[in-house]
This record gives sequence, C-alpha cells and structure tokens, in this order.
Amino acid sequence: MTAPLYIAYHSVDHSIDYWQKHLSPLVPGIELVHADEARAQEAEVLLTWNPPEGMVAGLKNLKGVVSLAQGVDHVLNGKTFPSHLKFARLIDPYMSEAMAEWVMLTVLEYHRDVPQYRAAERRKDWIRLEPNIAADTTVAIMGLGAIGSVVATTLTKLKFNVIGWSRSEKSLQGVTAFHGDDGFDACLTQADIIVSILPLTTETENIYNSTTFSKMKPGAAFINSGRGKQVVEDDLIAAVDSGHLRGATLDVMRVEPLPTDHGFWDHPKINVWPHVSAQTHGATSGPQIAEAIADIRAGRDPRNSVNIARGY
Ligand code: GLV
Repeated sequence: MTAPLYIAYHSVDHSIDYWQKHLSPLVPGIELVHADEARAQEAEVLLTWNPPEGMVAGLKNLKGVVSLAQGVDHVLNGKTFPSHLKFARLIDPYMSEAMAEWVMLTVLEYHRDVPQYRAAERRKDWIRLEPNIAADTTVAIMGLGAIGSVVATTLTKLKFNVIGWSRSEKSLQGVTAFHGDDGFDACLTQADIIVSILPLTTETENIYNSTTFSKMKPGAAFINSGRGKQVVEDDLIAAVDSGHLRGATLDVMRVEPLPTDHGFWDHPKINVWPHVSAQTHGATSGPQIAEAIADIRAGRDPRNSVNIARGY
C-alpha cells in the first residue's frame, strides 16, 4: 500500500469530510488532516478558509496554500504569509454564475420596486407604480475581475446601462469601464444601483463611507457582496436613514455571523443575506483544487495564483 498523501486542512465553513469526499476521486491517496494535528507537519499543501494567525507559518513542510474561496483576505490580511509559499485561489465559473444570479436578483428587486409591492400586499393595496426602464437605469459594478466581468456582462443581457470600475484599466464589451481614483467617483455619481464585488485590500478597506456615500446619486441603491470591512456600517445606516440612499442589500458584514443586536437586522431598508451569494462548491471547484495541489507539490505556479503584494 502506498503511503497516504497528507494535505493539511482548516476551515470554519465546510467539514473535513466534505472536502475528503470531493477530493478523494481526484487526488490519489489524499488524506486531509486537521492543520493542528501532528501529521499535518508532513503536508506540503494547506487547504483553508480563515486560518488563525500563525497556522500557515507553523506548518514546516508547506510549499503552498489553496484558498477555499475566491477571496484571499481571510489568509493574508493581518496574518503572516511566508514569502516562499505558493498561493492559489478559486476562480470557479459556477461561483461567478452564482454571483451573477444573486446580483440579478437583488438588482431586479430594486428595479421592479419589490419592497413597495410587498409592503402594498401586506396592506392589501392594489398599487401600480410607474415602471422603470432597464435601458434608463445605470448599474455600476465595482470590481471587474474574474467574477465582476461575468456579473457585468450578464446584466447587459437585461439591457441595463452597465458601467463598472476596476483598479487597472479593463475593457469589456457593452460595459463602460472606469479605472483609477477619478473613475471610482465617476462611477458612483452616475449609477442608480451600485454593486460592489471588490476584493478586500488596504486600499478598499472602509472605501464605502460618508464621503463616498454622499457622492452616490440621491435615491441610489447600494448592494455589497465583496467584503463587509469595505463598508463603514454606521455611515451606511446614516445614508439610508437620511433618505439619500434608497436602501442597501448586503451579503457580507464586518462581523460574520452578523451579531443579533446589530442594527442591520431590523432596518426596513437594509436587506441582510448570510454570505451566500456565491458559495464554494466542492463538485465544481474540486478539479481546480486537485490541479493546484499537483502544481504546488511539483513546484509549479498554480493556474489561479494570487499576487501577494497586490492582495488578490
Ligand atoms: C466568498 O466570499 C469567496 O471569497 O469566495
């Protein structure tokens, strides 16, 4: 019998059995072991979501890490990441499509005045509001990377006027793309609905605050499925309470799970989702994780390598 291939594992999301089941058919001999077990010291690869500080640096035989998510802030931000390690993240078409579905759902809720119609239903009130025309509605996608570009393109199919922002220059058919600091503000000022799917970096932390909310169009809606730490939450509540923003839909929070005493829960114009817009899925992401494990063990750069200095 060949020796088991130990791969270290730590996640506060899925169980170790979940990933063992999905990876066993793809990686011969794989045996996932909790990263704090002695056997994990033999592992060359760590699969992880949100490892505690010190865990990555403490695995002495490690050659690289695979993020069990599209984002990588849970591994890098405020945590030690030894520079010799390779680092892969997920770029899973299923997850990008799931995000596009969720964004369509939440954009359409505002576009089709769902809050007003549901409230009218509770009053047994047969109201008929003036329809909004998609082509006259500007939707801004903040973040036009692997996921954002799929989201933006999907929205163009519904005939919205789609604009978007990314840190570096991008070109995307049917989408007016902005970049740089000036482009960020231009996007905010033009959009009726702002959808943010930015990665969390030192540059994007707290990027949505009283100053940037005040640049948004009066009556704009704000949707966030990037990261909660990008939003100054009290500033968002103030922008909605003052009537400047029509409302907000959030899939990510500064603290998750959202504490039960948090003001978002009961706010009539803030919709809370429990970080489910594009969940990691073992069946669809298994093959690329298996490929990343093989690449890291062989000393090759994995396909979806993270640029550590850039932070995504
Ligand atoms: C989820 O938030 C992810 O980063 O994939």
